[in-house]
Amino acid sequence: MKLQLPPYPSKKHWLFGNIFYLRKDTIKNLSEFCDEKAPVFSLSSPINKIAVVCSPEYIKHIVQDNSINYRKSLAYDILSRLLGNGLLTSVGEEWKQNRKLIQPAFHKKKLDEFVKLMQRSTEESIQKLKLENKNVSFDIAPFFNALALDIISKSMFGAQVEKDAIRISEIIIQLNKLAIDRLNNPITTMLFRNNKDIVLVKELDTYIYKIMNERRASGDKKDDLLQMLLDARDEETGEGMSDVQIRDEIMTIFIAGHETTACALSWAVYAIGKNKEVLTKLREEINSFTGEINFDTIFSLQYFKMVVEETLRMYPPAWSMGRRTYAIDTFGNYQVRPDTNILIPIYYMHHHKDYWEKPEEFIPERFHPSTRNNINRFVYLPFGGGARMCIGNHFAMMEMILVLFLFIKNFDFEIPNEFEAELEPLITLHAKNGVQVKLKTI
Ligand code: HEM
Repeated sequence: MKLQLPPYPSKKHWLFGNIFYLRKDTIKNLSEFCDEKAPVFSLSSPINKIAVVCSPEYIKHIVQDNSINYRKSLAYDILSRLLGNGLLTSVGEEWKQNRKLIQPAFHKKKLDEFVKLMQRSTEESIQKLKLENKNVSFDIAPFFNALALDIISKSMFGAQVEKDAIRISEIIIQLNKLAIDRLNNPITTMLFRNNKDIVLVKELDTYIYKIMNERRASGDKKDDLLQMLLDARDEETGEGMSDVQIRDEIMTIFIAGHETTACALSWAVYAIGKNKEVLTKLREEINSFTGEINFDTIFSLQYFKMVVEETLRMYPPAWSMGRRTYAIDTFGNYQVRPDTNILIPIYYMHHHKDYWEKPEEFIPERFHPSTRNNINRFVYLPFGGGARMCIGNHFAMMEMILVLFLFIKNFDFEIPNEFEAELEPLITLHAKNGVQVKLKTI
């Protein structure tokens, strides 16, 4: 049988092709394309070869079974303007070596050590929020952003960025917007070289180099990721990592390690606030919790875990993932050419009617342990899959459960009736105008 290129969706712009429709209403238009042409289809674009793959079997093929044929896609080239060649963006031997080097920072024993730090940081932030005594509704997103930033800086790099947190968050949101703009408007970007992002990255670099230099100058030997990076030696040559390599790894963990988690926490509060019966069940779990907070007891908070998992389904912070083919690959009767960018639409998979009952409803019970194993790992993939799966998944789960637990223990909250959060798919999935809440201290 003659293999052919995957088909194109019917809706297309005469000059910019299908991708024109991904610049606005991205999630809606992409989902329509998937509904029309699943499980694999091409997207016409003036400058790139793009295919979208939206079946669990083919996603598994790409990220796991035939991952050797894939590197990261164009989106990650854009991300590397910020992250350099760190763990998220690097490929091949360099990635393998660094994954091996960094992995121990996420072992269970280390995670257990982070619990107290996470708890302290969350309780301090909650105390400050209480003192602000806000009687009106306000956007909770900056609170979770600053908290997640504090947690990642202290746990991985022993650093305090509290006084710079607002500026750092501002820079990251601007970079997020510039990156998605670059991706969605490749021609404008080429014609009008815009280096606004480089200026912002330089500013962010000053914080990163400060963290690195302060540790070196202090002569302290701490037991954290920063120290592991500073002390790492090549097994054959005995050489250490260059400052730029260390900077890239710090920047990657710094950004990947808080932005996604912060988005998820805001979405969780939104979803819980809109589903009062969920809040009631969470309170019951809080009331029946006794004993000390540690790694094991955090994960024994079954309903909290289900709520977090359902939040990651409804509002996956990494709403899509990308790869690029080295050589031709085949999917059924279709053939994808070398150097094709593959888009894996995580959000679509998480809302796919064939795999989820009432996909638009927030139902934590679908993650109940009795049926949890029936969920296909390549339909539900908030942390990706295969060897490139998120290195921080357990760290993130632990943080989200713990922060939510303490937040709900301390506050009663509601989302104003008239407020509806709007999806804003930047590199990560934001709520366009934040998440409005009204808090009452308990
Ligand atoms: C809710 C929180 C999080 C979500 C939804 C998330 C999602 C993801 C996804 C989907 C990937 C795979 C990307 C790909 O294959 O192209 C990934 C990779 C990665 N994540 Fe996360 N992440 C989260 C939290 C974290 C945290 C807390 C850290 C670090 C402390 C982290 C560090 C990384 C790194 C370094 C990679 C690249 C791993 C590699 O390629 O070896 N992430 N994440």
